[in-house]
Amino acid sequence: MNKSVSEISTAQETQSKETTTVPFPLVLRGIERRFQQVEGELVVLDGVDLTIRDGEMVALVAPSGAGKSTLLQIAGLLEKPDSGEVFINGRACAKANDETRTLLRRLEIGFVYQFHHLLPEFDALENLLLPQMLRGLDTEKAKERALQVMNYLKIDHRADHRPAELSGGEQQRVAIARAVINAPRILLADEPTGNLDPDTAGHVFDALMGLVRGSGLGALVATHNMELAAKMDRRVTLRDGKIVDF
Ligand SMILES: Nc1ncnc2c1ncn2[C@@H]1O[C@H](COP(=O)(O)OP(=O)(O)OP(=O)(O)O)[C@@H](O)[C@H]1O
Ligand SMILES: [Mg+2]
Repeated sequence: MNKSVSEISTAQETQSKETTTVPFPLVLRGIERRFQQVEGELVVLDGVDLTIRDGEMVALVAPSGAGKSTLLQIAGLLEKPDSGEVFINGRACAKANDETRTLLRRLEIGFVYQFHHLLPEFDALENLLLPQMLRGLDTEKAKERALQVMNYLKIDHRADHRPAELSGGEQQRVAIARAVINAPRILLADEPTGNLDPDTAGHVFDALMGLVRGSGLGALVATHNMELAAKMDRRVTLRDGKIVDF
């Protein structure tokens, strides 16, 4: 199945007046998410509004349990909000069906987790080929692209290593490479360096930032690291379930 995103029928964008022609990579409007608990309802997101522009890197810094992962999962179409709308590249996606969400995740959204989530039985190169094959690219082109991104992230010499044969920093570099391999419009990262020592975290983050800057995609990065947050274009936090700049 080689369906392109342009063939997916979704609701028309209702983005703010700020844009007239090119839609933003990511717009969240009035996102709400609650969880039922024994003690009652836990309101985690209570009307989140957020816009990520092209080439913009936004740090999401908030205490543990504030709802960072929940927000990223919703923005990445991995979870559905109770209400509100998620616009990816101008398309309303909150209520899109599973097939559409899967396609958008494959083509428009790159996701990096705290733990690499690479496929353990495949080597680094194969981990980067797979998402491209799913998109319908032929093996030679996919290999060329994979090596190009690996070269940029300085992991090309580890192409035939399986995840278990890579250091933590190398694993995260491969995970970052995988997230951008299909040239998405938006990159979402949930504490991408949270599992690394400070030195390695700094290097991996710089590589991530270089990629974002070089490709012009928008990025939302959850982190507890204020030093890394300070390097980004904008810092937001979650207060009472809402996004505020700080
Ligand atoms: N599926 C779920 N069911 C019930 N409660 C949930 C669920 N997912 C998240 N929560 C609750 O929602 C709140 C926000 O969780 P979330 O994982 O988004 O926080 P976080 O900001 O990412 O924290 P951390 O910095 O520790 O990763 C927490 O109180 C959590 O227990
Ligand atoms: Mg989290």
